[in-house]
Amino acid sequence: MTVNDRQPAGANPLRSRAWFGDGGKNGFIARHSLRAMGRGGHNFDGRPVIGICNTYSELTPCNGHLQILADAVKRGVLQAGGFPLEFPAMSLGEPIMRPTTMLYRNLAAMEIEEQIRANPLDAVVLLTGCDKTTPAALMGAASAGVPALVFTGGPTLNGRFRGRAVGSGTDVWRMTEELRAGTVTQEEFTEFETALTRSAGHCMTMGTASTMACLTEALGMMVPGGSGLPAVDSRRGTLAEETGMRAVELAGSDLTPQRIMTRAAFENAIRINAAIGGSTNAVLHLLALAGRLGVPLALDDFDRLGAELPLLIDLMPSGRFLMEEFAYAGGLPALINDLRDHLHHDTVTVTGRSLVDNCAGAEVHDREVIRPLDRPVQPAGTGTAVLRGNLAPDGAVIKQSAADPKLLSHTGPALVFDSLEDYLAVAEDPDLDITADTVLVVRNTGPRGYPGMPEVGNVQLPKKLLDAGVRDLVRISDARMSGTAYGTCVLHVAPEAAVGGPLALVRTGDSVRLDVPARRLDVLVGDDELERRRAAWQPPRAPAERGWSYLYDRHVTQADTGVDLDFLRGATDSTPPRQAF
Ligand code: FES
Ligand code: MG
Repeated sequence: MTVNDRQPAGANPLRSRAWFGDGGKNGFIARHSLRAMGRGGHNFDGRPVIGICNTYSELTPCNGHLQILADAVKRGVLQAGGFPLEFPAMSLGEPIMRPTTMLYRNLAAMEIEEQIRANPLDAVVLLTGCDKTTPAALMGAASAGVPALVFTGGPTLNGRFRGRAVGSGTDVWRMTEELRAGTVTQEEFTEFETALTRSAGHCMTMGTASTMACLTEALGMMVPGGSGLPAVDSRRGTLAEETGMRAVELAGSDLTPQRIMTRAAFENAIRINAAIGGSTNAVLHLLALAGRLGVPLALDDFDRLGAELPLLIDLMPSGRFLMEEFAYAGGLPALINDLRDHLHHDTVTVTGRSLVDNCAGAEVHDREVIRPLDRPVQPAGTGTAVLRGNLAPDGAVIKQSAADPKLLSHTGPALVFDSLEDYLAVAEDPDLDITADTVLVVRNTGPRGYPGMPEVGNVQLPKKLLDAGVRDLVRISDARMSGTAYGTCVLHVAPEAAVGGPLALVRTGDSVRLDVPARRLDVLVGDDELERRRAAWQPPRAPAERGWSYLYDRHVTQADTGVDLDFLRGATDSTPPRQAF
């Protein structure tokens, strides 16, 4: 008998046995179809089947190198005695996809969940990188309930432009403003374009991709040290191998995403998000993820728990350095070891140990990049603040560390636009009626209004103010903001204008008061007048009539619950579906 003729083993608790362990027709069909790809009978002898869910796509350049990591994961799976099977998942390319990748995060998550459940997988490794691919994978894995490890592709090397380090997004916003202000030439701008992204990987600022990578590790869903190493660092391949080996060990175990991502794990992640100066997008993604798992988590948890820790990582957009320096300084494990007295110890991660135990002894090698608690980049309580008031009854957020401190308590006249396009049409107008005191409101940019809640909350400043040397302005929207962006931008206003939230009722000239220390956002207009305006309000647009947008529009939740689909909330189970033939 050759190895290819070996019979499948008997009863086994692995999910894959429901497919491959059957001695009759059904098992035959499942096995022989894989034999057609050259997979011999030994693969079906009861060894764990490990899915490698790959969000590689040439339309997602940040994930364009994931095939190399998939090969490394496969090596690990094989070395540990597992049977790896790679499959593609919908990829979401932040810089290219329109109208915004956020419109598709839930679709990708749903696809990943269904693929895991519908296939003979005993554990899964999910390869991600670009902004939405990581939360989509976490959400899909959470709902599928099969043991899973996420492995992110890593950030690019630092950008280098004319002798200095430049960061994804952050320096793009900066250079674009200077170009519009005339202080940078078109030639310089083009040269900058060639110098910014020098290797494979995702954005290397502490934008959404780096934030979600760090929080995946903080939640316990990634092997220690996986979040920070550059995409092209050979040690990332080693970690990918380890990830594959560990997936084999987790197959059939009860160390599922539900057991790992507990309330305590989320609290650790929120504290770490404050210490790294993470993206405001993390608020939405963690709320959605917690919703999938039935973990109670509310918008206010981000303010309360986040305020416990100062900003300790000196990375753009809030600071000076980039992910390369963070990794070389010791990365997230070193930071976590510093913070061990501020984190829950009763968590479990994909290693089987707690987050704090994973990082015990990890040393900081550069105290300029990873600051000690007594010498923070910014003091505690200056991270993401949650605002409420008559403009945002269900909340709004602002990233204080990315704002001009002078504007955090500010009252000014509103200049209101019903769409981003309306504003952009006049943004270059030298006679625009705007001053540095104006509160710029751009609405109908929320989950349903746009739809997809794009990253336009850091609305570009009008040319008139740029020419006058102004570089920040209070901006209010129901949109999101890129994790790489900065400015005094009130985001995620809920309920959004498109569903009749009070943001829809503000008019140009109304006084708007932002009071971040008091956590308030109000329009100084009487309730009677607001009610009169509400009676006259008309929804701004007709919802989509077909396809994904139709389903999304009817089921998407507001920002304060993470912009997930209402019917995807609540944990599901991993039982193999019925056999149909
Ligand atoms: Fe993909 Fe920033 S554009 S990570
Ligand atoms: Mg982004």
